[in-house]
Amino acid sequence: MTAKTDQDNAILDRIIGERRSHRKFTADIPTDEMIESIVHAGLHAPFAASAIGNSTDYFRRFVVVRKESKAMKALIPLVFEEVVAMASALVRETSHNAGLRSKAAGFINRLAMIRNMGMVPGIGTAPFYIVVAEKKGFPPVEQQSLAHCMENMWLKATALGLGFQLVSVTAQMAVNEQFCRILGLEPGRWALMGCATGYPAEPLSPSIRPSVEEVITWPE
Ligand SMILES: Cc1cc2nc3c(=O)[nH]c(=O)nc-3n(C[C@H](O)[C@H](O)[C@H](O)COP(=O)(O)O)c2cc1C
Repeated sequence: MTAKTDQDNAILDRIIGERRSHRKFTADIPTDEMIESIVHAGLHAPFAASAIGNSTDYFRRFVVVRKESKAMKALIPLVFEEVVAMASALVRETSHNAGLRSKAAGFINRLAMIRNMGMVPGIGTAPFYIVVAEKKGFPPVEQQSLAHCMENMWLKATALGLGFQLVSVTAQMAVNEQFCRILGLEPGRWALMGCATGYPAEPLSPSIRPSVEEVITWPE
C-alpha cells in the first residue's frame, strides 16, 4: 500500500461528510462513464467470500435501468403493486398485535405515504435506477455485503457531484419473479438492493451527526 498524504485524508473526510440522501434530481443525464465508475466502486466493496464458496461465477451483478427505458416502464407498476401488497399485509399482521403495531408505525406510515403518492420514490424519479444483485450463500449475509457495496457507490457518486438515494424496497422485490426476469436475473438466486442517481436538484448541507465524544467509549 502506498503512503497516504494529508491531502488524501482531507479529501476522504470531505466526501464522507458531503454524502447525503438526495431525493430530487434534475433532468440532466450523467454520462455512462460516470455510472460505470460508480459500478466499479461497488464492485470493489468487500463481499462475503466464505459464504458464497469457490464459485467461478461473479458474486455481484449491476443492472442499470434508464429513466425512460422499456424496463423502467415495466418496473414502475410492479414495484408499486408490491409496496401496496406489503402495506396491506403489514396492517393485517399488526391488527392483532399492538406491540408490533407501535414498533412498525413509522414503516406503516411510510408505506401508506407511498401508496397515497401513487409512486415509489427512486423508481423512475431519477435518470438511473441501479439494482445490485448479490449471490445468495450461507450464512445468508447478502444484505450486509450489499450495504458495503452501496456505501462505496454512494461515496463515488458524491465524489462525482451526483445525488444518490437508497431504494431499499428493492430488497423485497427479490421474491418477485417478474421483477427478476425483467432485470435478467434468475429468480431465487440473488438478494437485491437498489439506488437512484442523477444530478441533485438542490444542494444539501454536509451530514449532521452527534460529536464523536458523545458516542465513544473506551473500556479499560
Ligand atoms: C438500511 C437503509 C435503508 C434506507 N432506505 C431508504 C429508502 O428506501 N429511501 C430513501 O430515500 N432513503 C433511504 N435510506 C436513507 C436514510 O433515510 C438516510 O441515510 C438518513 O435519513 C440519513 O440521511 P443522510 O443519508 O442524508 O445522511 C436508507 C438508509 C439505510 C441505512
